[in-house]
Amino acid sequence: MIPETTYKHKLEQLLPVSDQLIPNITQESDFHLAYLEYNSLSQTELLTRAGYFKTIGNTQTDHYKMCNTTNTNFFGSAKQQEYQRKYRYAIRYASHGIFPYKGKFHPQLIRGILNSIPVTKEMTVLDPMCGSGTTNIEAALLGIDSIALDVSPFCRFMTQVKSEIFSISAEELKGLIIDTENYCNVFSSIRSVKAVDYLNQRPEVSNLAFLAYLDAVGYTSRNRSLSLIKAYKRVLKKYVTHITPFLNFLNKQRIGSVKVLPEGSAKKIPLPSRSVDVIITSPPYTDMIDYVKNDYEILKLFVNDPNKLYTEVMGLRGSTESDRIHNYLNDLKIVLAEYKRILKTNGKLVMIIGFNSRQDKTYNLRCKTSEIMKEAGFQIEKKIHRQLEGTKHILEGETLYFLDS
Ligand SMILES: C[S@@+](CC[C@H](N)C(=O)[O-])C[C@H]1O[C@@H](n2cnc3c(N)ncnc32)[C@H](O)[C@@H]1O
Repeated sequence: MIPETTYKHKLEQLLPVSDQLIPNITQESDFHLAYLEYNSLSQTELLTRAGYFKTIGNTQTDHYKMCNTTNTNFFGSAKQQEYQRKYRYAIRYASHGIFPYKGKFHPQLIRGILNSIPVTKEMTVLDPMCGSGTTNIEAALLGIDSIALDVSPFCRFMTQVKSEIFSISAEELKGLIIDTENYCNVFSSIRSVKAVDYLNQRPEVSNLAFLAYLDAVGYTSRNRSLSLIKAYKRVLKKYVTHITPFLNFLNKQRIGSVKVLPEGSAKKIPLPSRSVDVIITSPPYTDMIDYVKNDYEILKLFVNDPNKLYTEVMGLRGSTESDRIHNYLNDLKIVLAEYKRILKTNGKLVMIIGFNSRQDKTYNLRCKTSEIMKEAGFQIEKKIHRQLEGTKHILEGETLYFLDS
């Protein structure tokens, strides 16, 4: 029997038949975010912004329509395609569908967070550990300006490319497929991120081709069965097939800007004090994912020695697990002090932190994390726990911490 306090139950009581949830919501955390966005937005805003609703007043929401443009047929095996179809409203839509970056947010979750606050167009959003840029892309889709930073030059490049896609036309994308061999040869011979300067295309377009090339470099470094040129052709085709229907659907006037800071670290953010309204971010999950090792072949095209990044990437410093956790918690104190500095008075910080029960038990991690947040001067307004699928060997779930500055 479902307890009466679940958000699923609360929504069932609250929603008129004309307001329907998006298909395939099963987790209590998603019902919770749906409940929050439903209570934070007006009817008109729900139609244009909501991430968890199929219809409002019997009219289909923009999110539902946008996600239905996603072509899921080209995502690998029948099982993978089934997964994509099931989660089409949660993960692969818009430019989120390109580059399989490990440990990225579910975009729908970020949309729910932006809506629950709710973040308005006058506010500035920051993700100082942007990874593949999920927070920034979602903000842009809602017409909100945002800033991105990551210690990895590759992540900064990926976030820039994924946000520039909004300015590309479907015609320009067609040109990319025709020129495949040419692009790959130029990229392979120059072997540097500077390659993009050599192509006779707008930077936004050649950067997208270069991201596809990097995707192929990453894929062939893990899986030697395919040549680089074949992998590149396949990835580029996938990108173009995926993005074209979305671009045809997009209302470009509504897109917010994304400013990617050219360098820096979350420990020392190159922004003035009290300049940001909302931070939505996720630190590495302790030492669970080695971001330098994962992207090593790609990072070599950006920096001379990717190993130097180990000194700055949170969670990866130290020769034993206990050292790494100790350094991780110290780094958490430093970044939280920095977030406190740049947030305006009454600013909001939402941190999403993965957990693994073995590490939690051994190091009392969740409890220490809450203490560090409070010591940094934040108030924990609420916590939402979320189970993760498909990553149970590394992480069982994550906690969304909603903090007041
Ligand atoms: C969990 S991932 C973020 C994924 C992101 N939310 C997304 O949706 O793709 C953590 C990110 O933190 C970055 N990172 C680690 N230490 C950092 C630091 N000191 N400053 C800035 N970024 C850092 C890593 O490069 C990685 O991209």
